[in-house]
Amino acid sequence: MWRIAHAVISGLAVGAGSGILANAQSIPCNGIDNCTSPFPNTTYPAAVDPNAVPGAQSGQISPPFYPSPWMDGSGGWDAAYAKAQAFVRQLTLLEKVNLTTGVGWEGDRCVGNTGKIPRLNFTGLCLEDSPVGVRDTDFNTVFPAGVTIAATWDRELFYQRGYGMGDEHKHKGVDIQLGPVVGPLGRAPEAGRNWEGFSPDPVLSGIAVAQTVKGIQDAGVMACTKHYIAYEQEHFRQVTESSGYGYNFTGEYSANLDDKTMHELYLWPFADAVRAGTASIMCVYNNINGSYGCQNSHTLNYLLKGELGFQGFVMTDWGAHHSGVSSALAGLDMSMPGDTAFDSGQSFWGANLTIAVLNGSIPEWRIDDMATRVMAGYYLVGLDKNPIPVNFDAWTTDTYGYLHYIASESYGLINEHVDVRADHGQQARTQAAKGTVLLKNTNNALPLTGKEKLTAVFGDDAGDNPYGPNGCSDRGCDNGTLGMAWGSGTANFPYLITPLTAIQNEVFSNMGAIEDVTDNYAYDQISALARRADQVGGVSLVFVNADSGEGYIVVDTNEGDRNNLTLWRGGAELIANVSSQHNNTVVVMHTVGPVDISSFYDHPNITAIIWAGIPGEQSGNAIADVLYGRVNPGGKLPFTIGKNRPDYGTDVLYRLNNGTDQPQLNFQEGVFIDYRSFDKQGIDPIYEFGYGISYTNFSYSNLKIVGQRANNYVPNAGQTKAAPTLGNFSTDPAGYVFPAGFHEVPLYIYPYLNNSDIKSASNDSDYGEPANEYLPAGSQDGSPQPKIGAGGGPGGNPQLYDVFYTVTADITNTGKVAGDEVPQVYVGLGGPDDPKVVLRGFDRLTIAPGATATFSAELTRRDFSNWDPVSQNWVISNYTKTVYVGSSSRKLPLQQALGGSSNATAGGYGTHAPAHRMF
Ligand SMILES: *[C@@H]1O[C@H](CO)[C@@H](O)[C@H](O)[C@H]1NC(C)=O
Ligand SMILES: *[C@@H]1O[C@H](CO)[C@@H](O)[C@H](O)[C@H]1NC(C)=O
Ligand SMILES: *[C@@H]1O[C@H](CO)[C@@H](O)[C@H](O)[C@H]1NC(C)=O
Ligand SMILES: *[C@@H]1O[C@H](CO)[C@@H](O)[C@H](O)[C@H]1NC(C)=O
Ligand SMILES: *[C@@H]1O[C@H](CO)[C@@H](O)[C@H](O)[C@H]1NC(C)=O
Ligand SMILES: *[C@@H]1O[C@H](CO)[C@@H](O)[C@H](O)[C@H]1NC(C)=O
Ligand SMILES: *[C@@H]1O[C@H](CO)[C@@H](O)[C@H](O)[C@H]1NC(C)=O
Repeated sequence: MWRIAHAVISGLAVGAGSGILANAQSIPCNGIDNCTSPFPNTTYPAAVDPNAVPGAQSGQISPPFYPSPWMDGSGGWDAAYAKAQAFVRQLTLLEKVNLTTGVGWEGDRCVGNTGKIPRLNFTGLCLEDSPVGVRDTDFNTVFPAGVTIAATWDRELFYQRGYGMGDEHKHKGVDIQLGPVVGPLGRAPEAGRNWEGFSPDPVLSGIAVAQTVKGIQDAGVMACTKHYIAYEQEHFRQVTESSGYGYNFTGEYSANLDDKTMHELYLWPFADAVRAGTASIMCVYNNINGSYGCQNSHTLNYLLKGELGFQGFVMTDWGAHHSGVSSALAGLDMSMPGDTAFDSGQSFWGANLTIAVLNGSIPEWRIDDMATRVMAGYYLVGLDKNPIPVNFDAWTTDTYGYLHYIASESYGLINEHVDVRADHGQQARTQAAKGTVLLKNTNNALPLTGKEKLTAVFGDDAGDNPYGPNGCSDRGCDNGTLGMAWGSGTANFPYLITPLTAIQNEVFSNMGAIEDVTDNYAYDQISALARRADQVGGVSLVFVNADSGEGYIVVDTNEGDRNNLTLWRGGAELIANVSSQHNNTVVVMHTVGPVDISSFYDHPNITAIIWAGIPGEQSGNAIADVLYGRVNPGGKLPFTIGKNRPDYGTDVLYRLNNGTDQPQLNFQEGVFIDYRSFDKQGIDPIYEFGYGISYTNFSYSNLKIVGQRANNYVPNAGQTKAAPTLGNFSTDPAGYVFPAGFHEVPLYIYPYLNNSDIKSASNDSDYGEPANEYLPAGSQDGSPQPKIGAGGGPGGNPQLYDVFYTVTADITNTGKVAGDEVPQVYVGLGGPDDPKVVLRGFDRLTIAPGATATFSAELTRRDFSNWDPVSQNWVISNYTKTVYVGSSSRKLPLQQALGGSSNATAGGYGTHAPAHRMF
């Protein structure tokens, strides 16, 4: 049965409670022999009380799913799979373990490093942050943050930025770039890391992440799409971190959500990333429905590797690994940075993984699958050709230092200071300018001419950080202009062009006059300058910001997540002080997300408002391009700006809500976040999702919807092949001890045993405890498995991507200057539980004055489907579907209902042959 004598159950990390087995919380059978898996009869999620309202309940569970699906090379991975298998076949067990386990925090030169395979000259993999550029080094580009590139709504720029970042990682010797981000998605507007990702809308995020992954990987490095999944806030993500802030509790929060919300919202962009071929995925710190993200067999085995057909490998977030055997069986492939806690010198894997394979707790096919997945990603992006050795060091920018930083060993040249930027700075400028959103422009206050009699610039956010652009570690402060928010998702600036510098250059080129006050609290000087600018008919430009970041840094009492939506450093007061004096006040906001603008947005003296996002190193040049009309703004808000904080309908959980137990974060709102929530509640925002104006105007006409022939949906069926095993290994522990004379770097994680008695070599106090000597039912089974109906290829059943309709509309530039417009197509799915409209497509078009361009978008089966938790598949409901086209989620002048839904059977898969519909 599932009892395995001497099973290694690698247990506890700091604060991990008794989460020893994967889904331990969901299998109430500690110490009981009768521990059968409820699969497949459990629908997901199995609410604690079956009569409870569906949705998100405290304490609900995540059903187990075993065995862990093995990769099969489908969906364009076949060549990489074959090469990976050939490589892994040559490996010993110890070498395979080296591919799966990091060497420990600060053990080697990158932020994460796998072990090496010296016998085959394989130097190990270098993993490095971040989603905006290469972190922890110099002579790299700081690209605009995810939220800003999202605001371009431009597929080509998504790709260009991805390629540029990938190229820089490649030339620094990085193998795996730790980005892009689609988790958090943006459930709560205050959540600290939303800006690293793109948008709370899954379709905008999905298109952005797919293009970014392609760009990164085309440049020759592996992407790591993160954080998987439901990591929607910083508070309580890690017990150790939160206890440093005075919270007393024992378990990382559980994000509790239902299956429909999972599929229709949070999983959606991950499906796009998988379909785009992301080589790796990072699992989260938090629990999902009561089970840790890095040992949750439902989210990893069932959803990611089963349903989405993910062919790459899953790595832990740094410190998110909490168990040895359980995580391996639940679908984890790589432990990062490899040690149980930073610099503990111990690992849930490493030697423990070797032992777990030796004693049969982890079947050979599972470690072979881990190693194959890692190497398949490597071959997929071509890292075997033209490898570039690591030429920087993540722990210091000093030229000389220790190769093994924490151990202070092997002194030498560690930073070659390679300039990898090429022309990416120019690209970053264009990207930031195109991601700038014009929200208000009364009487064409903008663009400026550059010949204003007096240009008055206000705000700390216009100028330099007195500590320098990199003066605060990981950008953990809000000093000077906000070019980048804080945390591990950052990079060092090679320069940061401030708005003040760029505007001074502009004014100076016209020999004009410019003065500034960058102290937000210099009230007298602010009033005096604003009054004078008013009297001479000049312009006042007020720069304000709002910052947030990752939970390990607190800025102005904000523990990662923002405490509120107000502007920082007295921004609203600054705006009030300037606008009370000057009737031509322009407000520029650098913010991580929505902010409270209710006190000033409709003030008559405020003639223009711009959201300039988190623009990266070219901040000043990009905003000057827009202010002076070199770039006609065409960005659109990737989120909603509401009037009042409660209007958003979702919030961060700031206080423990379950005693000292795991906080429960219940996603009771289901799929209704951001504009879907405002629409549902009937609340008018100030500026809605998708909104943004231009220096010209556009009109919409001539909607056409043409049905395409698509085959009936056939759920994926049949059986997988049996799990392959690649090579043999001896089960004699004596063959796995440290080689004679081997020099051990202190605190470094190795695959070797320190003696041939595996119980004592494991150093695991749980080892052999009877209560822990079982493994989840089915977890050892390498025989052919039933395929999952909604699966069938990377991203899910390929038929989900069949085109049902082509939508076209004419967009006319009715103004006097050329401009960009982003027509957006939304669908109303029609059911009582559906959002009013959901974004399904968009394009960014450049249109000459007087000209008309044709917008075209394709709508797929997936775009019309809802997730059905009972059949575990996508279905098309009988409700009338409506297609809308317009310039924002609330400005949808063109619409058409799709009639004749008789072909769709309720609750079934329907016979969706749209050509037979009314079009
Ligand atoms: C094996 O994992 C346990 C935690 O379950 C840890 O205490 C122990 O030190 C690890 N052993 C090694 C050799 O790292
Ligand atoms: C499992 O245990 C339950 C009660 O604990 C019992 O009703 C059931 O018959 C047992 N099943 C098996 C297969 O032993
Ligand atoms: C559980 O599911 C299996 C296969 O889906 C089915 O044959 C069986 O009847 C179900 N058992 C119960 C108790 O519903
Ligand atoms: C595992 O990797 C380490 C370096 O990280 C290396 O010293 C060791 O030789 C490798 N072991 C094997 C078996 O390749
Ligand atoms: C490893 O590199 C050395 C030195 O370049 C070379 O002699 C040897 O053949 C290589 N081994 C393999 C397996 O490629
Ligand atoms: C934390 O809470 C527990 C009760 O669950 C209590 O025993 C302990 O003293 C508390 N620790 C601190 C530091 O407050
Ligand atoms: C830097 O920022 C912090 C917090 O945002 C603030 O308290 C401090 O006064 C600032 N220092 C300077 C020199 O601007």
